[in-house]
Amino acid sequence: MRDEAIEGVRGCVFDAYGTLFDVNAAAARCQDRLGDNWQPLAELWRAKQLQYTWLRSLMNRHAGFWQVTQDALDFALATLKIDDDALRRELLDLYFQLDAYPEVKETLTVLKDAGLKTAILSNGSPDMLSAAVGNAGIGDLLDAVYSVESVGVFKPHPSVYRLAVDGLGLDASAMSFQSSNGWDAFAAKDYGFNVIWVNRFGQTEERIPQPPDRQIKDLSALPPLVGAG
Ligand code: LAC
Repeated sequence: MRDEAIEGVRGCVFDAYGTLFDVNAAAARCQDRLGDNWQPLAELWRAKQLQYTWLRSLMNRHAGFWQVTQDALDFALATLKIDDDALRRELLDLYFQLDAYPEVKETLTVLKDAGLKTAILSNGSPDMLSAAVGNAGIGDLLDAVYSVESVGVFKPHPSVYRLAVDGLGLDASAMSFQSSNGWDAFAAKDYGFNVIWVNRFGQTEERIPQPPDRQIKDLSALPPLVGAG
């Protein structure tokens, strides 16, 4: 994929889970009790969490992302036959304030120093996002945090992507949207953003409209692509 800078970017919008915050961190931190199950649990928890967002959106039965996250964990624990209330509570506490990936703070600092606007646009509920942002110490580096809760439907509904356009007051073509989730990156491109797919997990290209503009492995490669370093 091309690697020259995208022209005319004035704002950078980030997906949260998997892009800024390490979705596997909660299960990884409980490896001592989960043993070999930690990775299958992390993967199933995440996969179900996303499925439930899409199902609830199609069913017109919205619930907050915290509810969906708990339901998905319960499904994953039951599938792996893990019956441990204390462990369940600990996994949820850890998920509420997930660790940020190591390069996040430095990347946001470079973008802000270059005068770009920065924001999060996420399925996460406002309290989850505020806990994770606070834990990562990146509140001062963000102009805004947009949660789907204000529109009551999950990504990739277009009304979610519109939140960032309306909120930042910039045209989608003047923004770059970053997501590690292939489906989110493709859908945001279809909406009209410039999109940089942060393909941390080496995912295969989706077969939905439309391919993102650039692909990087982590956020340290972002600034030069948006004219910031
Ligand atoms: C989010 C999920 C999709 O933060 O990662 O919106």
